[in-house]
Amino acid sequence: MNPIEAKQEINRLTREIEHHNRLYYTEVQPEISDFEYDQLFRSLELLEREYPELIDVNSPTRRVGGEPLQGFEQRPHDVPMLSIDDQFSEGEMADFFARVQKGLGRNDVVVTVEPKIDGVAVSLHYKEGNLEYAVTRGDGSVGDVITDNVRTIRRVPLRLAEGAPTWLEVRGEIFLPKEAFATLNRSRDEAGLAVFKNPRNAAAGTLKLLDSREVAKRPLDFLAHGFGRIEGYTPEGSEQLNEALQQWGLPVNGPIWRADSIEGVLSAIRELDVLRHTLPFETDGAVVKVLDFTDRDRLGATARAPRWAAAYKYPPEQKETILRGITIQVGRTGTLTPVAELDPVLISGTTVRRSTLHNQDEIDRKDVRIGDTVIIEKAGEIIPAVVKVMMEKRPEGTRPYNLYEEMGGKCPVCGSPIAQEEGFVAWKCQNPACQAKTANRLKQLVSRKALDIAGVGSIVAEKLVEREWTAEPLDLFTLSEGKLAGLNLGTDEEPRILGEKNAAKIVSAAEAAKSLPLHRWLFGFGIPQVGESAAKELARLHRNLAELADSEILRVLQTFSTGQRKDDNEFLAPYRIASEVGPAVASNVIHFFESESGVELLAQLARLGIDPQSGNYAPFPTERGDAASGVSGKTFVITGTLSSPRDLIKEKIEAAGGNVSGSVSKNTDYLLAGEGGGSKREKAESLGIAVISETELEILLNVPSATAE
Ligand code: IVH
Repeated sequence: MNPIEAKQEINRLTREIEHHNRLYYTEVQPEISDFEYDQLFRSLELLEREYPELIDVNSPTRRVGGEPLQGFEQRPHDVPMLSIDDQFSEGEMADFFARVQKGLGRNDVVVTVEPKIDGVAVSLHYKEGNLEYAVTRGDGSVGDVITDNVRTIRRVPLRLAEGAPTWLEVRGEIFLPKEAFATLNRSRDEAGLAVFKNPRNAAAGTLKLLDSREVAKRPLDFLAHGFGRIEGYTPEGSEQLNEALQQWGLPVNGPIWRADSIEGVLSAIRELDVLRHTLPFETDGAVVKVLDFTDRDRLGATARAPRWAAAYKYPPEQKETILRGITIQVGRTGTLTPVAELDPVLISGTTVRRSTLHNQDEIDRKDVRIGDTVIIEKAGEIIPAVVKVMMEKRPEGTRPYNLYEEMGGKCPVCGSPIAQEEGFVAWKCQNPACQAKTANRLKQLVSRKALDIAGVGSIVAEKLVEREWTAEPLDLFTLSEGKLAGLNLGTDEEPRILGEKNAAKIVSAAEAAKSLPLHRWLFGFGIPQVGESAAKELARLHRNLAELADSEILRVLQTFSTGQRKDDNEFLAPYRIASEVGPAVASNVIHFFESESGVELLAQLARLGIDPQSGNYAPFPTERGDAASGVSGKTFVITGTLSSPRDLIKEKIEAAGGNVSGSVSKNTDYLLAGEGGGSKREKAESLGIAVISETELEILLNVPSATAE
C-alpha cells in the first residue's frame, strides 16, 4: 500500500467506525457485533501505526488521550453562555409562564420541559463537521479550552455525519453517570484518595485534569441541550434542531415534554420528578424553554439569563424511616458525635442508612429516641439529615437518649473517661492518645489544604493508627517506602496490601510536604478554630513555629475579650490583625504549643529536620491607607495577556504593599493569570497556589486582609 492508498483506507475505516459509533451511542441500535467493531478498530490502529504521519487529530483511535498540557488556553465565547433563573415553586413557575405569554403578546405559547442535568456546561464547536474545540462555560464570556479532555468522551462525535452545517456550536452538559460516580468513589476510597462529594464535582474535577490520558480512564458522558453560533443552517425551533443534532450523531438530552399551558408544564414537571431517579445522571430540576427560536429572540435576555427559559428546582426529598440505633463516632479533637442508624431508605436515588445527629442538644431538641419513626431529608443532594420525629408513631417503652449514660462515661474507642468542656455541649474523650483522635489528626494533616498527601485517605490513615505504625501523625514521616508498601488494608484473614506504587506516592508527597509554607502545616495541626485563613494570618505575623510558640502578640491578644478592638491597643495596632485571629484563636494556639502533645510535636519536627517557614511574613503592613488590603505582604507572579501593561499592574500591586516576582515558587501567594500563561499556571496549580484573574486582583486591592482569602 502506498501512502495515498493508505490515506484512502484510513478514511474509509474512519467513516465506517464513525457510522457504527453513531448507531451505538446515539441511536442505540448497533448493526454489527462488538467483535466486528473491534476488528475495524484494530485495522485502523495498525494502519495508523504504519503511517503515523497520516493520523487525524479526530481519528476514532485518538480517544485515549494525549500528552499532558501545561495549562488550559482560554477562549472567549461568540455568544455568551448565560445561566438560568431558578423557580422554587409551582407558583413561581406559573409567574414565569405568564411573563412569557405577556412578553410575546399572546397566549398560545409552546414550551418544552426537560431534565436539568447536574453536570458541567460545555460548548462544542464543529467546523465543516469536525470537532474544532471544546470550551467550558468559565465566567460566561470566557472559558477554558478542554478539547483534548472532551475527545476522550465516547458519546461526543469527533466528526459529524453528512449534512452538518459549516459551523455548529452545540452546547450541553458533561456529566459522570451516577453508577460510574459510585464506582469511581469506591475505588478512590480504597486507594486512599479523597472521595468526590457529588457527580458534578467529580466531572468538574476530571475535566480540570491536564493529562487527558487520565480523563480517558473515567467514563464521562455528554448530552446536548442547546446551541451557540450556527452558520449554514437556520432551525425554526428546538424540536427541529434536536432532530438535526441527532442525525449528525450528537446525543440529545431527554425525555422532553411539550406543553402549551401552565397545567401542561406543571404536569410534565411532576412526571419528571418521578422519572428522574431512574435517569443515569443526577437531576435536581426541570428546564422549561420556549420552543420557537423567533419567540426566543423576541423575548431576549437579561445580563444573567434568557427570558425564554427557567429552571424548576425540586425541593429536597423527604422520606420516613425507623431509627434503629445510635452509634458514636470519635473525631480529631475527641468529640463524640452521635450518628443515627436507619432502616435503609431510597432518597433521591441513593440509599441512606446513616445520618448525623450532631450532639446531645440536637437529640434533646428533636427528642429523637431509638425506635422512633423519623423524617429524613437529603438537602444539597448528598448529606442526609433527620428533620423530625413522627411523635404519633412513637412506640411504647422508648426513653430519652442520653449519650453520657449510654457510653457509661467512656470513649467507645479507647475506653478513657469522657467529659464536657465548660460552655460546650459536646462530650470529648480525654485520652490524648485515643486511636480515633490520632487517625483523625492524621487525616487532617494530610488533607488537601494542609500537606496534601493524597495517597493517605481514610482507610490508610485508620490502618496506620490501628496497626500502631503512627502513634503520632508525624510518625508518617518516619515510615520507609518498603514498610509502607506492606501495610495491610484488609484483615488478617483477607489481607489487602497497599503496594509499592501507592507507597512510593505517599513517600514522595511527604517529602514535598516538608518544604510547604508555615500556614499549610498550621492548618494541618488541626488547632481548634485555626482554619485556613486564621493559619495564613498567623503565618503573616510569625516567621516559623518557634516564633509562634513563643508569641508575644498572641499572649497580649489572649487577654482581650471577644470583640474588643485590637487597634486601640498600642502594642497590637501596628500589626493590623485580621478578625480571623482573635482572643479565642490566640488562646487555642498558646494552649496547643504549651500542651504536652504540642511540645512533643515541636520536638518531633526538630528530630525530623522539618522547620516550616512563613511564605507570607509581613507583620507590619505599611502606613499607607490601602496597606491592609488583601495584597499587602503578598507575593504575586504575573502571566498571560492582561488588559493593561504588566508594569502598570506591577506598580499597582507594589503600591498596595505587595511584591511581584518573576517566577512561581512555594513563596508565591497568587498567580495573576491573563489569557494564555500555561506553564506558570500549571506550576502554581501543582503547588496549590491561588490562580486569580484581574477582577479578583481588584477585589483583593479593595478588601481588608481579613477577608482576602
Ligand atoms: S438550557 C441560557 N438545558 O444549567 C441557558 N441548561 O443554570 C440555557 N443545564 O450552565 C441552558 N441541564 O449548562 C439547559 N437541559 C438543560 C440543562 C441546562 C443543565 C445547565 C446549563 C447551565 C446551567 C444554568
